[in-house]
Amino acid sequence: SALQDPSDDDRRVLNIAHRGASDQAPENTLAAFRAARERGANVIELDVQETKDHKLVVVHDTTLGRTTNAEKIFPGKSPWRVRDLTLAQIRKLDAGSWHGSEYKDQRVPTLASTLREMQGSGLDMLLEVKSPSLYPGIGERVAGELRKHPDWLNQDRVIVQSFDWPFVRDFHNRLPSVPTGLLGTPSRASLSDAATYADYINPPQANATPGYVESVHKHGMRVLPWTVNDASTMRRLLKNGADGIITNRPGTLQSVNGG
Ligand code: G3P
Ligand code: CA
Repeated sequence: SALQDPSDDDRRVLNIAHRGASDQAPENTLAAFRAARERGANVIELDVQETKDHKLVVVHDTTLGRTTNAEKIFPGKSPWRVRDLTLAQIRKLDAGSWHGSEYKDQRVPTLASTLREMQGSGLDMLLEVKSPSLYPGIGERVAGELRKHPDWLNQDRVIVQSFDWPFVRDFHNRLPSVPTGLLGTPSRASLSDAATYADYINPPQANATPGYVESVHKHGMRVLPWTVNDASTMRRLLKNGADGIITNRPGTLQSVNGG
């Protein structure tokens, strides 16, 4: 697993495909996750939310209008909130055509199907729980799904992250073996507290300055900035000490990284 502690002479930069290779294929679909592997990613980032009937699905927005044909299929159900539709309803939606007609068969994946389909890929997973306050109990559901997939859990192939830091603390207490990440930029003064329950600090790229990265490293955590799509910014962030980069273009990062 690329997430396991590298020794100093084997420091591996994590090439993290943001919502899959989302520059190439429709974000948060199996097509985008497969494209990520083909383009040299070693981790896929994805967003997890919950349907009306409490199934975990992989989708970024809390509504389905932007990335699916929900408007056409359920004209009366605007604004097509993920939490207002059942999994059976959401599985009817085309989650690919908006990105290109060749992707018309892509569906909103469940977390379970993504873990199953990508199990043999060799990729690791940066799993973002999106807006957990909308979904009471989602932490236990995500933990339960991971426990059902020991190939991921026991091989240290998953990091759980969120912008909701109390959620991350709670998740860490629930499943301490899974590394966790805080999205955003905790103050330097708060890093020692963050380090009691988080392993990664994942800030917007502008905040990953050399000084900030050094502070995070001093507290024993790693830094994964987002979302970086151009080669010169990738080079600068790696020089600043970033431990990996979250990008829509894993192929660009692979060439920057000399692979
Ligand atoms: O993983 C970082 C990034 O995904 C956070 O922002 O809005 O793309 O989920 P967003
Ligand atoms: Ca995300």
